[in-house]
Amino acid sequence: MGDEVVSSPTHRRQGCYAEYVAIDEAMVAHKAPRLTHQEAASLPLVALTAWEALIKFGRLEPGQRVFVQAGAGGVGSVAIQLARHFGASEVAATCSTRNVELVESLGATRVVDYTKHEYDEVLSDYDIVLDALGGEHKERAFAVLKQGGALASIVAGIPTATEKYGPNLGVLVAGWQMLSFSVRARFKGKRAANLVKKCDGELLGRIMNLAEDGNLNPLIDRVFPLEQIAEAHRYAETGRARGKIVIQVRR
Ligand SMILES: NC(=O)c1ccc[n+]([C@@H]2O[C@H](COP(=O)([O-])OP(=O)(O)OC[C@H]3O[C@@H](n4cnc5c(N)ncnc54)[C@H](OP(=O)(O)O)[C@@H]3O)[C@@H](O)[C@H]2O)c1
Repeated sequence: MGDEVVSSPTHRRQGCYAEYVAIDEAMVAHKAPRLTHQEAASLPLVALTAWEALIKFGRLEPGQRVFVQAGAGGVGSVAIQLARHFGASEVAATCSTRNVELVESLGATRVVDYTKHEYDEVLSDYDIVLDALGGEHKERAFAVLKQGGALASIVAGIPTATEKYGPNLGVLVAGWQMLSFSVRARFKGKRAANLVKKCDGELLGRIMNLAEDGNLNPLIDRVFPLEQIAEAHRYAETGRARGKIVIQVRR
């Protein structure tokens, strides 16, 4: 009773903005004592997603080269840190001019300012690519991958497809696009998949340990009180947040 825990429940039970949520204990981990509640709350979704992409699907090994799109974003900022922690020899990341120093400070060894350079013209032969942008970027990021490499996309394109084709056909079209992309990758000697984070309490515990030891540092852009939730969503929709936006539910 009374343990301080973190989680990122499944999409069936997200409990967004709730004060209480009932979830399976297998999906929780103790909060790292070093972190504030706001810092701890900012990590589970993005860290589980980055782990799924780089470690589970990407099978990251020391000495490999990793490319992370949107390095200043929630997932990107954690993915850079995880890639460095697990021994990547090079971590390239994209961001706009104002975020170059921030992304370098997270551990990126090569930062491509996308307002000045096209990343697919200056990068090549990466072992693992994390696509956090989707759409045309998926194909462009695929070109940066070396033979035998793995592209993990965390943007399935379902909202775009359902807007265009309606709820049923849209999901089918998005599913077909994902499947055909993976199959085409296989024919080209590469691996590609769309991934969704899975909530695993044991893994979350490892993530909290990394944070406790200072090997993973949360990046919080802004904290909004629940009363300003509409403003928080408007800010998120700008696509300019550095790291995570946190909602303070209870004062
Ligand atoms: N599959 C899953 O389980 C899962 C889990 C979490 C998130 N997601 C999805 O993954 C995507 C990324 O999530 P997120 O939370 O990391 O996003 P986010 O935090 O909202 O991303 C904002 C960041 O994106 C950067 N950005 C915007 N346009 C860019 C571009 N053209 N090139 C490079 N960087 C760009 C911005 O940096 P600048 O201001 O420097 O441009 C900003 O820092 C979202 O679509 C989200 O829905 C999926």
